[in-house]
Amino acid sequence: MGVCAANLRAKRSPVGSRLNVLMINMSSKTVGVIGAGTMGAGIAQVAAMAGWTVELMDVDEATVHAAIAGINKRLDRLVEKERSTQDQRDVAAKNLLVANSPDCFSNCELIIEVVVEDLDIKAKVLGNIIPALNSDCIIATNTSSLSVTKIGEAIGQSHRTVGMHFFNPAPIMKLVEVIKGDKTDIAIADRVAKIAESWGKKVARAADVPGFIVNHVARPYYLEAFRILEDGYATPEQIDNAMKQLGGFRMGPLELTDLIGQDINTATSRSVWEQLDRPPLLTPSSLQEQLVADGYLGKKTGRGVYDYSGDSPCAAIDIDLIPLGLNEQQREAASGFVRAATDETGDELQQYVFARILSALFTQAQHAYDRGVAEKQDIDTALKFGVNYPKGPFEWAQQIGKSYSPSLPGRGLGGG
Ligand SMILES: NC(=O)c1ccc[n+]([C@@H]2O[C@H](COP(=O)([O-])OP(=O)(O)OC[C@H]3O[C@@H](n4cnc5c(N)ncnc54)[C@H](O)[C@@H]3O)[C@@H](O)[C@H]2O)c1
Repeated sequence: MGVCAANLRAKRSPVGSRLNVLMINMSSKTVGVIGAGTMGAGIAQVAAMAGWTVELMDVDEATVHAAIAGINKRLDRLVEKERSTQDQRDVAAKNLLVANSPDCFSNCELIIEVVVEDLDIKAKVLGNIIPALNSDCIIATNTSSLSVTKIGEAIGQSHRTVGMHFFNPAPIMKLVEVIKGDKTDIAIADRVAKIAESWGKKVARAADVPGFIVNHVARPYYLEAFRILEDGYATPEQIDNAMKQLGGFRMGPLELTDLIGQDINTATSRSVWEQLDRPPLLTPSSLQEQLVADGYLGKKTGRGVYDYSGDSPCAAIDIDLIPLGLNEQQREAASGFVRAATDETGDELQQYVFARILSALFTQAQHAYDRGVAEKQDIDTALKFGVNYPKGPFEWAQQIGKSYSPSLPGRGLGGG
């Protein structure tokens, strides 16, 4: 495991620092990652595997050593699975350095802040490091929910502060959202997008709005599923199976909320809803909030929408099912929607669930586009590579054409 390159340079010669300034103009291919937790370690691995030198920092060196040991284990597994060669593994491992002082970042073209989600802590951590940075160094933040503009203002570096939002686990998830704050130089956002692409990522450019693209546009996938439960039209299994079987989603919305954690998922929904001035489509689900109040947080507590204590999960929410009672026109709307959207057929309930949830998703995607959150193509990219949707909402809506937004019963507000 290497030590910070600045320590070595200091021992070598003062000429080194002048050379470093020149190198930065040509790209030093050195990134500083501050925060070696879940995301920081993942991002460090991505950059090191892409051939960048990584200066990794945390509250103490022991935490960084532990993170690097974890990354090395993951690199070993890639070799075992023949997804990487021993040489590639060794180069990546050698690229990881322990940064034990801000001076270690003096040669960085980019630093990525990945500490806890707290504006004051992020500003304090960055404030300590900024004096050591080259004036060209890009300051990126991996924040999920804070404003990039506010972080830039808090550190007095708005022009070079940019959002670089990776998804968990960073080495596996392809998407990086690049977020331009109100005063971020466009050239800085462009350069970060290029760097992310050179690290093998798909980039979606987004405005600095709560939840950026994914955590904002994907909300109805979960919320509309909870509303169908609240309406009493379907059980959790029926809802999850409809989305998997008809839509080809890897996970149904309700099992996914159990995996994410009901507390995390609800908190994100509530935060986005509040920050966007409470749009009806994104109203948090009272049923989901009750699960959190009861301590049923999902897989991590053994129970959420499903109970995980047995051999296979079974629904832990009792629904007093009521008949769907679609009239002829509604039945035709739902089945026409499904015919246009997928090769699968499904029964009437599955068609209803699928059409209702997907329509809500399309509506939210259109709202986001209308509000200038991102281009349609970026929204499609974000949902395909950030949450593994089989198709982007705009490409899917275009395929469905006039059957889009069927008018269906229920308290959900997806249609229209
Ligand atoms: N976990 C996710 O799924 C996810 C996904 C995308 C974005 N994010 C964002 O990434 C950031 C980090 O999240 P995480 O899940 O990796 O958290 P984490 O708790 O796993 O890691 C945070 C790390 O920051 C370190 N830290 C705290 N104060 C520090 C300081 N003063 N100096 C240096 N290091 C310090 C902690 O010791 C810890 O190792 C947050 O902004 C979060 O919103 C998280």
